[in-house]
Amino acid sequence: MSKNILICGAGGFIGGHLVNYFRNIGNFNIVCADIKPIEYWFQNFEDTSNFSLDLKEYENCLKVTKSVDYVFNMACNMGGMGFIENNKAECMLSVLINTNLLRACKLHNIKKYFFSSSACVYNGQKQKKTFVDGLKETDSYPAEPEDGYGWEKLFSERMCRHFTEDFKLDTRVVRYHNIYGPLGTYDGGREKAPAAICRKIIKAKLNKENSIEVWGDGEQTRSFLYIDDCIQGTIKVFESEFNEVFNVGSDEQVSINQMINIIEEIAQYEVKKNYDLSKPKGVRGRSSDNTLVKNKLDWLPSIKLKSGLEKTYAWIYNQIKSGTNVSKFSRSNLK
Ligand code: GDD
Repeated sequence: MSKNILICGAGGFIGGHLVNYFRNIGNFNIVCADIKPIEYWFQNFEDTSNFSLDLKEYENCLKVTKSVDYVFNMACNMGGMGFIENNKAECMLSVLINTNLLRACKLHNIKKYFFSSSACVYNGQKQKKTFVDGLKETDSYPAEPEDGYGWEKLFSERMCRHFTEDFKLDTRVVRYHNIYGPLGTYDGGREKAPAAICRKIIKAKLNKENSIEVWGDGEQTRSFLYIDDCIQGTIKVFESEFNEVFNVGSDEQVSINQMINIIEEIAQYEVKKNYDLSKPKGVRGRSSDNTLVKNKLDWLPSIKLKSGLEKTYAWIYNQIKSGTNVSKFSRSNLK
């Protein structure tokens, strides 16, 4: 018997890849929901049921969760540091999506609910150095998450936990660590560092310019997880029997300068870095500790940063060269 799956945020980067994953497996009726008009979804398919609606509204949550077995909530108003640092209220309003989806899922007796949380829930005090120990799942408490976006994610994680405890709704939660790859945002203000740096180096190369702007001093560190690993980790957690929170991230920690060097190598083009210390920088150092996910689920990411960046660079290069841009939709059009 085929299963009915709802993917919320299906028009976004991770959501779009997840829809495609289930399409390729087959035997699923896939319902897709996203606030963006369908023509602006990063990926949209004719063999899925597609809804463009605002999941902050309870009635819309009721509509899309009807007759559904499993729900993936990948929907939120998000972006890289440039977006989340300057749009805290907008980010926190995503609490309505998760809250109303949980209420609707409870009413419709959904079998399992997945919530996409973020490394932004981690305590800022543990991210003050450049190279840091990987963040363990327990490092989110005592709570001092990223202001705005991180607080919403931490609160919504907790809401999932209480819907499980009090209402027996089966939930799964993961914390994504900077997911990157093709078919994502690379300009317009919401792009994260891997896509932004690829875009800047591509443009410099095409326009024969010799420098790019880098936010901060470039010594801040992150770990980046390629989208295929992200989907594999997502499924692994979703299918598991454990309903505790798991990191889905890489532990290949690099400074932004090191990542730039890798992208320069891929582009075969060197640039001078103009560091702008006034731009949003976020935490000083961040990486994922994967001990729990390895021990309990026997899962670790497999794609090295260089290899993921090669694919990402090639995709962005083709987008820029051909003048197409899947991430051109501006949400301000919706207001
Ligand atoms: N976006 C961006 N663009 N970041 C740059 C740039 C640039 O041109 N140049 C340097 N950076 C630096 C930022 O200043 C920051 O220190 C680092 O690269 C990483 O920035 P982002 O990739 O934008 O965000 P993040 O890693 O701090 O947080 C992202 O990942 C979280 C999960 O790990 C965000 O997308 C969060 O929303 C997400 O939760």
